[in-house]
Amino acid sequence: MAFEQNKKISKKVLTIDFGERGVYSFGNKLNNLTGKEWIKFSKSWFIHKPPRRKTNEILHPAKFPETLVEEFISFFTKEGDWVLDPFMGTGSTLIAAGNLKRNAAAVELSKEYFKIARVRIKKEKFKERIIPILGSSVNLSELLSSNNIKNIAFDYTITSPPYWNQLERNSLRQKVRSNKGLATKYSHSSDDLGNETDYDAFIERQAKIFDNVYDLTKPNGYLTIITNNVYYKGKLFPLAFDTAVSLTKRNGKSWVLKDEKIWLQNDKPLIALGVNSAWVANRHHQYCLIFRKE
Ligand SMILES: C[S@@+](CC[C@H](N)C(=O)[O-])C[C@H]1O[C@@H](n2cnc3c(N)ncnc32)[C@H](O)[C@@H]1O
Repeated sequence: MAFEQNKKISKKVLTIDFGERGVYSFGNKLNNLTGKEWIKFSKSWFIHKPPRRKTNEILHPAKFPETLVEEFISFFTKEGDWVLDPFMGTGSTLIAAGNLKRNAAAVELSKEYFKIARVRIKKEKFKERIIPILGSSVNLSELLSSNNIKNIAFDYTITSPPYWNQLERNSLRQKVRSNKGLATKYSHSSDDLGNETDYDAFIERQAKIFDNVYDLTKPNGYLTIITNNVYYKGKLFPLAFDTAVSLTKRNGKSWVLKDEKIWLQNDKPLIALGVNSAWVANRHHQYCLIFRKE
């Protein structure tokens, strides 16, 4: 390990040269990445090629790949930091955090998905605190306290809330899932944001949960929300854009919107939608919205 003085800065800043990976500076306030890795992540779009999903992960209709979450956690935290996910699903964020030696807590409403997450986490035998919690994020602060997570200011939240009513929508993909006997609904709970039929009410209820996250986040901590605009009854609902705007207009709890990173899903098969009739897109990208508590 070769330490050297960074010559561009007048103050003494130690660096460490990791060869191919690039040079890490001990002046790096945010993460454990080298300058080369930092720049690579700063691109505004990415294509991610995750490994194939395992059978118990297919049970969840909208799981995101751990390898993708790992890239975000690596950028927005350092080892030992605390990560939060208020919409846990089958625990991708917890597994990614554990793999990267971060601590993490996550909340899931559905017993079925909570159990899958718990089994997956037990298998890993992480040394850090990796805590899956069963309950509703509507009561996030109380829920964390009652699970012994007190006085912790989270460094980073990464999550993917339900995409409004999209699971129930009668699309071709949903028909394929339902023909295979797989769920097309997260749960029957009225706390489940995916069961909110009114679009504006969804936006407000979602924003309220992120008010809770705001309270639990340290100053200057980041939040990433993975979501999308959605097509319903012949028109586009700008869910990703309204999510971005709604969180920046909260009374005393406004997040600062810093950017979006676009996840290009280049591996999805094209489906014949609206052919010979009208415009319907094969929507093959998602938005990773980046906010900061400033
Ligand atoms: C898009 S999925 C998240 C998937 C997750 N990122 C993964 O990789 O498995 C949204 C999850 O939020 C859960 N959910 C919905 N409303 C909730 C609430 N009020 N509190 C906690 N979880 C909720 C759903 O049951 C669903 O599993």
